[in-house]
Amino acid sequence: MPFTDILPFLRSWIRNPLRTAAILPSGSKISALMTGEIDPHRGPVLELGPGTGPFTRSLLQRGVPEANLTLVEYSSEFASLLRGRYPNARILRMDAARIGDFDLFEPGSVGAVVSGLGVLTMPPRQVKNILNGAFKYLRPGGAFYQITYGPRCPVSKKILDVLQLEESFVGKTIRNIPPASVYRIKRCFETAGLS
Ligand SMILES: C[S@@+](CC[C@H](N)C(=O)[O-])C[C@H]1O[C@@H](n2cnc3c(N)ncnc32)[C@H](O)[C@@H]1O
Repeated sequence: MPFTDILPFLRSWIRNPLRTAAILPSGSKISALMTGEIDPHRGPVLELGPGTGPFTRSLLQRGVPEANLTLVEYSSEFASLLRGRYPNARILRMDAARIGDFDLFEPGSVGAVVSGLGVLTMPPRQVKNILNGAFKYLRPGGAFYQITYGPRCPVSKKILDVLQLEESFVGKTIRNIPPASVYRIKRCFETAGLS
């Protein structure tokens, strides 16, 4: 992680610890876990809560074209930092819970969604809106990758059941501050042939 990213991140955490949800940007191990299954040629990638962009960097390293990235970030400071760093990406300064209210993509066209949002501290309604919006755009067989610092998938079983989604564990690393895991969320009943 670039040293220069630490200061804006700490500033954001001091201003709004619940929304920032971590005291440091993610490191390279967890970024690789978040992006390791993403096929750079399966359509645009939607990233929610990019912060200073560690997952963005990892997506670009995997070969996702910058112009195929849409980054949804609530913080104006992070959004303008990202605009300077990734001029060809689409950067939307907005609440990720509202993505479904707009026509950001053709329905079913997005290759994958990567979420650095701190969903553990969000009200259930907000989490439900985020997932509903993301799955409006996700292609058949596409997955939503969610980071967490907790011991299990941060989206409750109740929300998953209502939206007909299922979660599975991707991996964990202790080489991150704090140690973190990644969960994959997909539509129930999708056959392997579709992914
Ligand atoms: C835990 S940080 C993760 C940042 C980065 N992905 C990383 O791993 O270093 C959470 C990020 O989500 C953003 N965020 C929080 N709530 C949001 C919301 N409702 N909509 C969009 N972004 C949000 C925060 O501003 C912050 O950048």
